[in-house]
Amino acid sequence: MAHRIAVIAGDGIGTEVMPEGIRALEAAAKRFNIPLEFTTFEFGSCDYYLEHGSMLPDDWFEQLKGFDALFYGAVGWPDKVPDHISLWGSLLQFRRRFDQYINLRPCKLMPGIKSPLAGREPGDIDFYVVRENTEGEYSSIGGKMFEGTEREIVLQETVMSRTGIDRVLKYAFDLAQTRPRKKLTSATKSNGISITMPYWDERVAEMANSYPEIAVDKFHIDILTANFVLHPDWFDVVVGSNLFGDILSDLGPACTGTIGIAPSANINPEGNFPSLFEPVHGSAPDIAGKGIANPIGQIWSGAMMLEHLGYQEAGEAMVTAIEAVLSDGNSQALTRDIGGQGSTESLGKAIAERIGAH
Ligand code: NAI
Ligand code: MG
Repeated sequence: MAHRIAVIAGDGIGTEVMPEGIRALEAAAKRFNIPLEFTTFEFGSCDYYLEHGSMLPDDWFEQLKGFDALFYGAVGWPDKVPDHISLWGSLLQFRRRFDQYINLRPCKLMPGIKSPLAGREPGDIDFYVVRENTEGEYSSIGGKMFEGTEREIVLQETVMSRTGIDRVLKYAFDLAQTRPRKKLTSATKSNGISITMPYWDERVAEMANSYPEIAVDKFHIDILTANFVLHPDWFDVVVGSNLFGDILSDLGPACTGTIGIAPSANINPEGNFPSLFEPVHGSAPDIAGKGIANPIGQIWSGAMMLEHLGYQEAGEAMVTAIEAVLSDGNSQALTRDIGGQGSTESLGKAIAERIGAH
């Protein structure tokens, strides 16, 4: 049976990088004999919103829930639709309703890409950030009292559940288990946040008992962010709550260079619902329509999707092809953001050809 992939290109450069993501996936599918079936949806874009008055049709959940994965481009066109409407009306609905409680971002310095951190080479930075994606600090429990008066108060509660923490920790430990270094770092702040964060630490210690091969350490979030910059080579798998993970999952990829290449995944590990794979970047209205967007973030997200579907080797071959094309440094192929003179299509084709040539 074919794996059914729902394709939502979205807005701006999302529509330009998506065809290259599919081109690369088709090359990998051909080489590794993976049956993939793509179905394209127009919703989840600002143009759809302007026509229909909502980002998604009423029955989106029914339409999408049976797919094996969602492959998303980027959403947002702030001149036409305010960002809180476009983002909350699409991506955030998927993350919640499909219980995608893992947000996963690789932070890997690629050949030919200059790190903003001085003196760092490929191999120095190669880790994952695992973010809890459904609870924690991003809760809707709280309220306001005495609004507009001297006594005005606002309150917003952090919600941490044993189930919620344990499931993200288990995912992170399992991921560390698959990696040669077998190291896990937990982000905490138990010196300042004295109830929820000591509890988080307790659950980490408890989970560590089941993974004796994994070396576990923890840092308070403030010094941890400093260490991402000072010692990115220390990290292998880093796990954090929703807020800490949010910060780390932007900082980590930023340490590895251009936003055009960073991928991400929102995962429901049990497979009860489809997981979602998308580049980290947005719709980039400033360069949209010019055919110069870097397609690597989209292609690498496709590699993560294949790994999630169980095709580890195929996913790795896609990442290897990206690395090979970047190493070649052929400026006719590479896009401008990484020093070339090529187009979205020339870079996408070079990578797809490399995936097919073996
Ligand atoms: P952005 O990521 O779209 O662009 C930031 C800067 O990076 C721009 O200068 C852009 O030209 C450049 N850039 C981004 N992707 C690139 C690529 N593939 N190749 C070369 N250069 C690239 O972020 P921005 O401008 O803050 O947001 C634009 C829109 O995208 C907004 O509506 C925002 O809400 C939305 N957005 C959507 C996301 C998503 O779909 N997950 C994530 C981030 C933003
Ligand atoms: Mg963020």
